[in-house]
Amino acid sequence: MNETAAAERIRFLTNEIIRHDELYYRKANPEISDFDYDLLKQELEELERTHPNLAHEDSPTGQVGEDLSDGFQVYQHRLPMLSLDNTYSKDEFFAFVERVGKGLRSKSIEFVVEPKIDGVAVSVTYENGQLVRAVTRGNGAEGDDITANAILIGELPKSIEGSRVPEIIEVRGEIYMRNDEFDRINAERQAAGLDEFKNPRNLAAGTVKMLDRVEVAKRQLNIVLYGLGFSQPSASDTQWRYHESLREWRFPVGERFWKVNGAVEAWDAIEQLDAMRNDFAYPTDGAVVKVNGFVEQDILGQTSKAPRWAIAYKFAAEQAETLLEDIFIQVGRTGVLTPVAQLKPTTLAGTTVSRATLHNAEEMERKDVRVGDMVVVEKAGEIIPAVLRVIEEKRPSGSSPFVFPITCPECGSETRKLEGEVALRCINSECPAQVRGRLEHFSSRQCMDIEGLGIALVNQLVSRSLISNCADIYRLTFDDLVGLEKFADKSAKNLLEAIERSQGNELWRLLHGLGISQVGVAAAKDLAKAYDSLAHLREASVESLIEVEGIGEKTAEGIVTYFNNKANASMIDDLFELGMNPAAPEIPQGDDVIFGGMIFVITGTLPTMKRNEAKALIESKGGKAVGSVSKKTDYLVAGESAGSKLFKAESLGVPILSEGGLLALIDSLGSGGS
Ligand code: IVH
Repeated sequence: MNETAAAERIRFLTNEIIRHDELYYRKANPEISDFDYDLLKQELEELERTHPNLAHEDSPTGQVGEDLSDGFQVYQHRLPMLSLDNTYSKDEFFAFVERVGKGLRSKSIEFVVEPKIDGVAVSVTYENGQLVRAVTRGNGAEGDDITANAILIGELPKSIEGSRVPEIIEVRGEIYMRNDEFDRINAERQAAGLDEFKNPRNLAAGTVKMLDRVEVAKRQLNIVLYGLGFSQPSASDTQWRYHESLREWRFPVGERFWKVNGAVEAWDAIEQLDAMRNDFAYPTDGAVVKVNGFVEQDILGQTSKAPRWAIAYKFAAEQAETLLEDIFIQVGRTGVLTPVAQLKPTTLAGTTVSRATLHNAEEMERKDVRVGDMVVVEKAGEIIPAVLRVIEEKRPSGSSPFVFPITCPECGSETRKLEGEVALRCINSECPAQVRGRLEHFSSRQCMDIEGLGIALVNQLVSRSLISNCADIYRLTFDDLVGLEKFADKSAKNLLEAIERSQGNELWRLLHGLGISQVGVAAAKDLAKAYDSLAHLREASVESLIEVEGIGEKTAEGIVTYFNNKANASMIDDLFELGMNPAAPEIPQGDDVIFGGMIFVITGTLPTMKRNEAKALIESKGGKAVGSVSKKTDYLVAGESAGSKLFKAESLGVPILSEGGLLALIDSLGSGGS
């Protein structure tokens, strides 16, 4: 691959991975399977290895995913929570064992093989035997304090006693939800006309991050502990004995562990685990193989994101064969037409599957999928099942290829492919399916979070022409609502209250809710921080938008296009006229505003602060930290291995500060009173 093509591919993969990280870690709503995600990451790693000059210092390959959310106290882990290297290949697994052997200069190494639980990582700290804190992984260094929710997990000990309980210990594990509990909650939601949750892992992730403890208490979460963070004095000397202590201290632990010697025995254990994992109480998507001895673990050490003494071997997705009964086309809120297969129900990875995605017209054509075919469906992890391929030998005679509609099946409008996209889109922004989709999105939990306004109700309101855009929600009256099917006075009153409350939401919720192309939760938060009001954001140019850290050119263009659209502009005017009044973000006041209006760029690795800490510090002093250096940059804060940004700053004559220099600047401006 030549340099230009590689640069282009690296950019594409980087953006995709960041987008999928956001969907997985922050929205708990992934679009692709872990397997497909890992493929993207592997490809990017390979390209970065072969084209080191094109590798970006902030590349997602060098970071663990981040799950930090608003509304929680952030807490620093005493020892960082790392991620694990993973593989789907037996050869790579054997290569791992060989690397370990070289690192330890030994041929016979003891490993522990254990189930890899697909849940939400958590670190629980006990001091003098008492549970004091439970924290999510967050960005690996610090996570969200979810103690209030974690103590509602019945099987998590609130105190531990027995032999050798360390004074301080961080016990690590995974919070998960059982399939039957997941089904129970969804059945209840369906009966109440609320949106159903997608899968147990995401529901568990969403639940531990809820601020409403009454609701958390209604959902049963479970936990398994398997890991050790900080401990003083040392909790154990081997992983095997540590598991024994966990059991003695009454922690729920994995169902089965194997102590083995060398690669062949380890592989055998992995296969045994694969054969039995469907009977486990928790979703198990692989095996984790760890060097047993803690001394040996220390010798091997770790990279910035994963230990060298452990690896996750992930099992391939599960597949099943079933009849494709029908194909229908779903139209999403952005007009994308997605073909969906209606299947003869079949059991896959422990759940019943009756629908699977067919991705898009090109994919369907490539696979030549037809109604009446026997197909192989795959469910990777807990993701939406997909049709993998057709079993052609079993095709009934007389079947004909599926003809993808050229017009929108919902409204009959023309469909088109946007540049660089494979998906067909309905071009009619008034298409009922798009209208419903936009309204559902606006009111969803990651946006305006209007309790009670889910898919079913939106459909009713739209079909009665009571609402057609987001502003209409704020025009709804008591009389409009009580006329609806199964809608009592009380529910109408509650809904109206929830609607009114949402007008005071933080700005990022509104921004995300508008459904601007490319603006997810993270971008909405970045924008809300950079622009104090929607009025200012509406006026922003592409040039000033790309100054905002985290906002790229495509997103900036999407934003400008959105606000230039007349219908959008008048809908937003209406929203504000009807009383929208986003809560103001905290703005530093008084003596703290020493960097008022100043623009900083941070690059490289700082000696003690993380980049986002430095950013927060600058913002707390009223300054702005943006992503790219320009003539308008006041200071570049540069650490070790700073690259292109440093060159650019030097060539533009932008003053350069070290971390110490930044602190000195704060000191001098602060005490000087200037
Ligand atoms: S050990 C230093 N053991 O999978 C990293 N992790 O994909 C120690 N996980 O970050 C992790 N089951 O959240 C370990 N038996 C197990 C696990 C496990 C699930 C999670 C953990 C980890 C992630 C990596």
